[in-house]
Amino acid sequence: MDPYDRYELMVNGTVVQTPIVLAAMAGVVDAEYALARREDAGMVCIGGYSIDETTMAASRLLVEAGRDEFLPDDPTAEIRAQSEMLSESGLVVAVNMRGSAPESFAAVARAVGPGIVYEIDAHCRQEPMIAAGCGEALLHDTDKLERVVRALKAEHVTVSVKMRAGVAEDDQILARALWQAGADIIHIDLMDFGHTKLRQIRNACPLILIANNSITSFTVVKDMLAHGADMVSLARHADPATLASLNEKLAAYADETGWYNAPKQLCRGGDIRSLTFCCMPVKNCPLIPALENLDISRNEFISVKLNGVKNTLLEGGENTCFGSLAWCCKSSTPCMFRNMALKEVGLSLPDYMRYKRRLSEKLMKRVFEGDAFYAAE
Ligand SMILES: Cc1cc2nc3c(=O)[nH]c(=O)nc-3n(C[C@H](O)[C@H](O)[C@H](O)COP(=O)(O)O)c2cc1C
Ligand code: SF4
Ligand code: SF4
Repeated sequence: MDPYDRYELMVNGTVVQTPIVLAAMAGVVDAEYALARREDAGMVCIGGYSIDETTMAASRLLVEAGRDEFLPDDPTAEIRAQSEMLSESGLVVAVNMRGSAPESFAAVARAVGPGIVYEIDAHCRQEPMIAAGCGEALLHDTDKLERVVRALKAEHVTVSVKMRAGVAEDDQILARALWQAGADIIHIDLMDFGHTKLRQIRNACPLILIANNSITSFTVVKDMLAHGADMVSLARHADPATLASLNEKLAAYADETGWYNAPKQLCRGGDIRSLTFCCMPVKNCPLIPALENLDISRNEFISVKLNGVKNTLLEGGENTCFGSLAWCCKSSTPCMFRNMALKEVGLSLPDYMRYKRRLSEKLMKRVFEGDAFYAAE
């Protein structure tokens, strides 16, 4: 199947071949590393590169302490050269950067241009980097982090923020602030928080989310995708055998289900995208507090759902519980009535899920137009 039809995912104007990202490792992840893995990855974050005098000095201290670092004389020229080596690779290319001031980031983007994604390293917790005012320091100085995002966006480039969960005061508030500042992607190291933290961030902003940390098996990948991840990333375990196995299983799963990162249903712990599978708001269930949280009335919810399926194959389904496939459950929930309705209109279960994805996008548009957000766990 064509990768766009399979995942319907684009980043920085490029179709993502597979939602597997090679996460940055300083001194390790460069063009050569990425080219050796390109068959089973969709995106690479090369670097991290220290991009100004202050952070290059911090890198030198790390090298003295025995860590691997990229330390080219001219980081901008090196970033340009490495990304040019990847220009025909089919990978979405991002560069992970440590800088001490917003202008340092903007200067690289100005020089290298919009062909790559600019990833702000707000993740590194090595003392010299924190002292240089970058890495994790940015999660304690979120005003500065927002200024870095804004400085990059002023250069008209796609921006990712690499962060660690549980460091900032409130990850949901931070996610919303990054979205308001113009960020396009949040690349989140979930540490030990797992999918609970991921779902919180999914519920707080409509950005592309890359889930990271200990993604070692397809079971973990599926868990991340079902709780809000658009992509998953690997650093320590990005060996060719693991990548090949994940890529193969992901493709089969996407083709079989029709929506590779479909959420769980809301009452089974799904994120807010799962409103697409919700029933009419007529019973006492988690939908009611969710709508209250979002400041969406029951009547408005009904009209957004019904308008969302108008003139589509989901409009019908008079013998289903609520008279329209708009209200029907996820394909993994067996149901004779839904399946009969689908048969009548000639829709396969994977195609049904593709339509549900469209409906979810319309619902999310409404959710994120409002000021309220789903703050529940
Ligand atoms: C040796 C090494 C170097 C790393 N360097 C960077 C870096 O420069 N920038 C960054 O954002 N993350 C860096 N990371 C963090 C990884 O990208 C990733 O977030 C972390 O290892 C957890 O993911 P994993 O379980 O897939 O390894 C580094 C990790 C390792 C092990
Ligand atoms: S409306 Fe239906 S699917 Fe949604 S939470 Fe309630 S019971 Fe679950
Ligand atoms: S008809 Fe089946 S799929 Fe549709 S809402 Fe009822 S139980 Fe769910």
